[in-house]
Amino acid sequence: MRHLQTVGARLALALLLVVAGVLAFVYLIVTPSLEDRLIGSRQSQAAAIAEEVAARWPSITPAYTPTNLADSYAAATNTRVRIFRVDSQSPLSLSAIADEGGGPSAQSTDQDPVARQAATSLDSERGVVTLGDRRFAEAAQPFTAKDGTYVFLVSSSIEDSLGSVDLVKHRLFISALFALAAALLLGYAGARLFARRIRRLEQAAERIASGRFDEPIVDTSPDELGQLARAFERMRQRLAGLEYARREFIANASHELRTPLFSLGGHLELLVDEDLDDDTRREFLGRMREQVDRLTKLAGELLDLSRLDAGRLRVDRDPVDLAQVTELLLEEFHALARGTGHELARDGVDGNPTGLGDQQRILQVGRALVENALKHTPAGTQVLVSASRNEDRVALSVEDDGPGISETASVHVFERFYRGDTGGRASGSGLGLAIAHELAVAMQGEIELSSEPGRTVFTFWLPAASGTSSPAIE
Ligand SMILES: Nc1ncnc2c1ncn2[C@@H]1O[C@H](COP(=O)(O)OP(=O)(O)OP(=O)(O)O)[C@@H](O)[C@H]1O
Ligand SMILES: [Mg+2]
Repeated sequence: MRHLQTVGARLALALLLVVAGVLAFVYLIVTPSLEDRLIGSRQSQAAAIAEEVAARWPSITPAYTPTNLADSYAAATNTRVRIFRVDSQSPLSLSAIADEGGGPSAQSTDQDPVARQAATSLDSERGVVTLGDRRFAEAAQPFTAKDGTYVFLVSSSIEDSLGSVDLVKHRLFISALFALAAALLLGYAGARLFARRIRRLEQAAERIASGRFDEPIVDTSPDELGQLARAFERMRQRLAGLEYARREFIANASHELRTPLFSLGGHLELLVDEDLDDDTRREFLGRMREQVDRLTKLAGELLDLSRLDAGRLRVDRDPVDLAQVTELLLEEFHALARGTGHELARDGVDGNPTGLGDQQRILQVGRALVENALKHTPAGTQVLVSASRNEDRVALSVEDDGPGISETASVHVFERFYRGDTGGRASGSGLGLAIAHELAVAMQGEIELSSEPGRTVFTFWLPAASGTSSPAIE
């Protein structure tokens, strides 16, 4: 029973049933009708002869007897021709007055059913009569003359025709056996071939399910199974990529967490030493505060990333005035810029820069860009923040005249944990731009980078809120 559950067995069985059905149809419908047609054609021939004999009956003379008439037709058509006189007194009886062509062993047939039928109905009749072990197609034609009624009966043996039908049946039966065996074999072999490919895909799926993405799935055939295998292979590659990214992320995140924790632990040990003077103690506390800030920032960033990955980060789509966002950024970073020796300024507002997005998230992106411009450029660098509108998009731009980002580094700056060479300046965890980029995308915007030595511009594009643009404010 288990064998019947395989695709191979089912396919072979289906093929077998179809072939058997076709053969049964041929055997049960076609061969009987072939037999009927052959008998019918013999009867028609016999009927035509009987009619002719009846038509010649008036030419009977003492010299040309009924026997002569019957004999001439029997010999010419290779049939048995009988002529009966009908005695219509009841009960109706027939007496043969001529019987030719039947051979010496011909049985007496005064009781022939077809002739009796014709004598009764006085109309031409046809039928099949079995005499001994032979069968005959018969046709009877009645004729009413002045001196009484006659019936002309022509019988033609159908043994040879039936013999041909039997031969056809026999050969059909033998070919049917061959066809069924071939169908079974072909169906099973074909299905086994498919089953093997399906099993390979099943094994590949099992491997992937158990977390092994190393073995490629190869099936170059253009059929549906080949297409399925290629879809599996694309899935394998994508999952392998995701798995790699996941492992790298965990490794990077734990490394990033460990560094400030080590530093905190070290400083705590030192603080336990009671011989420390107040200044050193304060300095250590200051450094510890920095590390706590770093850890807090990192925890926030990791939380944002996990929400972005899980698709659980909700962003609103409200009209947000980017001019107002630049103001807030300038206020927020004013003190820090002064501390790092940067010149932070607004570079004008162009058009009506009201975009669609989430105010808090837009501010978060702006903060990441301004913070980078202050953190990754040397003191004395000018940092300009501006807002503008370009047809159906609005932009928040942060520009600095620092050393710029090399072409190789600019390919990677939006990747998670990527940190460029900041020339010894303070460096974060490399998550700021990655999060900013994903937030921009979540708000249906993007961040563009254009950098050359002496000029770096990060432009954060957002869809504009509907409403016409107005002339520049400033
Ligand atoms: N304005 C800039 N000028 C020069 N280099 C920059 C500038 N902005 C970013 N970078 C480079 O891009 C890298 C990635 O920036 P990103 O904000 O993602 O990380 P980070 O600032 O190092 O850390 P985090 O933002 O997580 O504290 C930085 O390490 C820096 O090398
Ligand atoms: Mg940063």
